[in-house]
Amino acid sequence: MNHFDVIDGAMHCEGVPLSRIAAEVGTPTYVYSTATLTRHLGVVQQSFAEHPTLVCYSVKACSNLAVLKLFAKGGSGFDIVSVGELERVRRVGGDVRKVVFAGVGKSEAEMIAAVRAGILMFNVESSEELEALDKVGRQLGVQAPFALRVNPDVDAKTHKYIATGLKTSKFGVPVEEAVALYAKSKRMKGLVAKGLDCHIGSQLTDTRPVRQAMARVGDVYKTLQAKGFPLTHLDVGGGLGVTYTTETPPGVADYAKAVIEPLRGLGATLVLEPGRVLVANAGVLLTKVLYRKKTPAKHFVIVDAGMNDLLRPALYEAHHDIRPVAARKGKKATVDIVGPVCESSDVLGHDRAMAPLMQNDLLAVMTAGAYGMSMSSSYNSRPRPAEVLVDGDRFRVVRTRETLTDLMRGETP
Ligand code: LLP
Repeated sequence: MNHFDVIDGAMHCEGVPLSRIAAEVGTPTYVYSTATLTRHLGVVQQSFAEHPTLVCYSVKACSNLAVLKLFAKGGSGFDIVSVGELERVRRVGGDVRKVVFAGVGKSEAEMIAAVRAGILMFNVESSEELEALDKVGRQLGVQAPFALRVNPDVDAKTHKYIATGLKTSKFGVPVEEAVALYAKSKRMKGLVAKGLDCHIGSQLTDTRPVRQAMARVGDVYKTLQAKGFPLTHLDVGGGLGVTYTTETPPGVADYAKAVIEPLRGLGATLVLEPGRVLVANAGVLLTKVLYRKKTPAKHFVIVDAGMNDLLRPALYEAHHDIRPVAARKGKKATVDIVGPVCESSDVLGHDRAMAPLMQNDLLAVMTAGAYGMSMSSSYNSRPRPAEVLVDGDRFRVVRTRETLTDLMRGETP
């Protein structure tokens, strides 16, 4: 559920008409709903309440400080993949003891910063990374807590760019190598084994691969316990999908069952890394019609948001519903909704049946809260959009639109 509704013919976010935001802040602008964000975090926390669980929001999905602050206040921990994300968590007063650090390519400087900060654990993805972390731990005179990310080799049945649990994927180490690597870590003075980790992919819509993966990592966890490793945390990653069009992902409660049931009795604290499910439908990208153009083959609607602002359609052929903020009466026409970027892939929506659109009409690109602004760029030297957070009948700009000075910061002619 979300809080973007049409009231008296005009789309609102909670109590605020989107047209008011466009008038005051301009377009393109990302608009997020506090009520949706808060609700989603609560639903995830409650669905796992029967089992000791730490929810670590995956910062990469939407890393705006205001969103992070809301989640920190709601008791969330954070799944980070860079020192930049660590700094974001610290800036909002997030609890660093609830931070897990993932990613196949952490630099030494990043490891040092995260050890110093006192994070919960590093999710280590290779033998060489384990050695590098050991070195950092020894240099700093501490034992850096780690979980090894294993690759359970299951087909998550999602887009090939966001499936991560197949044996051909760059992520994690094969399950069969796990025990030997933990054994190796025992001889390393700068490390302490804290947990075990996996993540099979994103936009998961089926609980079967989840159960399968949990059963496999549950077995590894048991083996490691039996061998005397003092593990306390089992990180099950993120990945629960959302509805963009016709997908029917499991509800959070069913997902929780699929995770918890195979792992019951292990005595582990579960770590969850949800991203998309918390923020995707809590955000829209608000954009304005610039021009319409008819060619013999197509009707185009050219809007002021492009692939640099929302990359998902161009990169994954992702479908986002695009809705008029105030629908006009009249016959629907099939149009391509395209951005201003000089690339043929800059299409936000192919062959969409849309009510009549005029210049300056506003459109909302739905379910854009996850991997929207966080994947934006300034390609074509387009300043990145503003971000707005709505709360009830008020809103505030939580990131100003990039200026031309921002755009060229650090460059020397
Ligand atoms: N944990 C790990 C280790 C991850 O790699 C990811 C996402 C997550 C958690 C969060 O997954 P989520 O709950 O959001 O599915 N840009 C793509 C998605 C890339 C996901 C990358 N990793 C998209 O726009 O669909």
